[in-house]
Amino acid sequence: MKNFINLKDISSKDLKKIILDAKKRKRLRKKLNTLETDKGAPLRGKILIQMFEKASSRTRISFYLAIKQLGGGTLTLRSNELHLGQGGESISDTAKILSTYGDGFMLRTDSDSKISEFKRYLKIPIINGLSPSSHPTQVLSDIFTVEEIKKKTISKLNICWIGDSNNVLNSLIAASVKFSFKLNIGCPKKFKPNKEVISWSEKNKGKINIYHDPKKAVSGADVIFSDKVISLNDKVDKKKKIKEFKKFKINKRLISYAKKNCIFLHCLPRGDEVDDEVFLGPTSHVWQQALNRVHVQKSILLYCFGKLR
Ligand code: CP
Ligand code: NVA
Repeated sequence: MKNFINLKDISSKDLKKIILDAKKRKRLRKKLNTLETDKGAPLRGKILIQMFEKASSRTRISFYLAIKQLGGGTLTLRSNELHLGQGGESISDTAKILSTYGDGFMLRTDSDSKISEFKRYLKIPIINGLSPSSHPTQVLSDIFTVEEIKKKTISKLNICWIGDSNNVLNSLIAASVKFSFKLNIGCPKKFKPNKEVISWSEKNKGKINIYHDPKKAVSGADVIFSDKVISLNDKVDKKKKIKEFKKFKINKRLISYAKKNCIFLHCLPRGDEVDDEVFLGPTSHVWQQALNRVHVQKSILLYCFGKLR
């Protein structure tokens, strides 16, 4: 049994194995309908319990489809429906109960320490479905999407992030070390990635450059990533923060500084950080990106359940 909490704690070898498995599985089920099961139904009879403390559309649906296609099922909970969420039960007891009924647990939470505490008491794998510090299932799936579209290993590409230094960027930084790719970050001075994340990357030979001029950040990029300026539960003066990101808005003019065949990716939901012309235009591959969550999460589930081929 393996957990999937943070990309920086998983070996490059395992992460690459997950991507490879997802590539094979996606290819093999080309002719199957959405709810048809992969050959061999490797997770037949298994249930993934998903719990959300924050809103989610893609993560909840893609995990539902992922385990279904592997022969299993999901139960989706909102934490406020549980005794735990109402303050009437501890994490330790809840974790023991989840381990009694379920085979795997996916948690989207507003607290990283909750993940650690659940991990301590669970006897089943835990998957981080987004926390304040990371969004590992999203970013691993994004690596898959980049390689699928660019038909190249990501280590040969220049990746750029324009936007807030948030959970998704933290996971992208971890991925840049694990998959050895160059990452340019464009953000206002005040919103630089946090020091621990940068020093971890430096210690691990990360190839990161931070720019406060968005044109410099996108220069030579093969891929431009972005995300909302205001994340879920971001406790800031929203109007002020959005204003501070004004010159980082992604539009055709900014993209013209990147490589000609550069692609645009965004985990969704979107805000004002990108204009419609780019988001809905030919450079953007955001719908394919969202769909790939299903394929990659299947292989993440297999990894956690000890069934990765
Ligand atoms: N990208 C992503 O995680 O979307 P949701 O918040 O809708 O799950
Ligand atoms: N950074 C965003 C990602 C949403 C999928 C958030 O945490 O809200």
